[in-house]
Amino acid sequence: MVALVAVLVIGYLAAKGPARPVEVTAARVALGQRLLAEQRLSADGRRSCFSCHQPERGFTDGRAVATPGGLNTPPLWGLSERQVFGWFLPEMHSLEAMALRPLDDPAEMGPRGEATLARLRADADLLAAYRAAFPTAGDLITWEQTGAALAAALRTIEPPPGAYARYLAGERAALSAAALRGQTLFVEVGCAVCHRPPSFGSDSFHNIGLPADPARNRGRARVPGLRGVRHTAPYFHDGSAATLEDVVRHYARGGGPGASPAIIPLNLTDADIRDLVAFLESL
Ligand code: HEC
Ligand code: HEC
Repeated sequence: MVALVAVLVIGYLAAKGPARPVEVTAARVALGQRLLAEQRLSADGRRSCFSCHQPERGFTDGRAVATPGGLNTPPLWGLSERQVFGWFLPEMHSLEAMALRPLDDPAEMGPRGEATLARLRADADLLAAYRAAFPTAGDLITWEQTGAALAAALRTIEPPPGAYARYLAGERAALSAAALRGQTLFVEVGCAVCHRPPSFGSDSFHNIGLPADPARNRGRARVPGLRGVRHTAPYFHDGSAATLEDVVRHYARGGGPGASPAIIPLNLTDADIRDLVAFLESL
């Protein structure tokens, strides 16, 4: 009986769970790392993922939005702990698919096509890297393999550890007094309702009262993770907050028109705002 229940529960979880990602191997991670920098993936042969997700800028580009009318470039770390990708894409549950998305957009790296694959296949060294990553697939380079390799590499990217990580690891002096007060405030004023540890994000969608295009998921954005946030200014989906202080002041005002009822004006002093910023910088 117990065994039967276990089988049913496992069967239920398997049916409900997200599509299982392709198995991660060292060769796939290595290929994906190479493809993140590969300009031949783009239609004009001049752009790679790193053109916007620049490793030295926390895998962002330092700009408000990546393309005219587009969105702020998010960092590429902490993705292994997410189930939903993109700012306004509640249906996007596949990192493999998200990794190929910029190749369909002519404003980013697209359009992709057979010509792109032919260019990659012409490089014997790259072909060998694909063969090592997908040993049973023969001498083909496919989009499916490309998405799987990119996703494998993306799942390994982590932000550089901040003072908060050292604090959690037992180094009690790592957090300043201001950051410790900020941590308490972060919980007290409700930030942690949406920004949940350990990622300080969540796969839920909320409108925080920015002037969002209502066609984009009715202005409801996915809650970004905050580890490494000190490296990725400017902030918000529209890049409208230049600094973490601007972010906290947005929340202190109670957001703006259309904000979720969870966003209410906060009674924060300038010192409280500095403490919250110190905590965010430690993450
Ligand atoms: C022109 C700039 C640009 C280029 C080039 C680019 N991206 Fe992005 N990337 C963005 C923007 C903007 C978003 C947010 C898109 C959205 O939310 O719909 C994004 C989002 C993502 C996300 C989702 C992150 C998250 O937190 O949910 C992943 C993964 C990603 N890109 C991977 C890649 C890969 C892999 C490449 C190369 C094949 C690439 N990007 C090339 C700008 C770019
Ligand atoms: C109701 C849920 C919710 C609450 C409460 C909330 N946030 Fe957010 N937070 C979000 C969402 C959603 C976004 C993305 C909004 C967008 O860009 O449209 C965000 C964005 C951010 C960002 C920018 C991250 C980036 O990479 O651009 C920071 C920093 C942040 N929040 C900190 C806080 C702090 C500090 C508090 C408490 C004062 C707080 N949040 C309260 C949902 C919430």
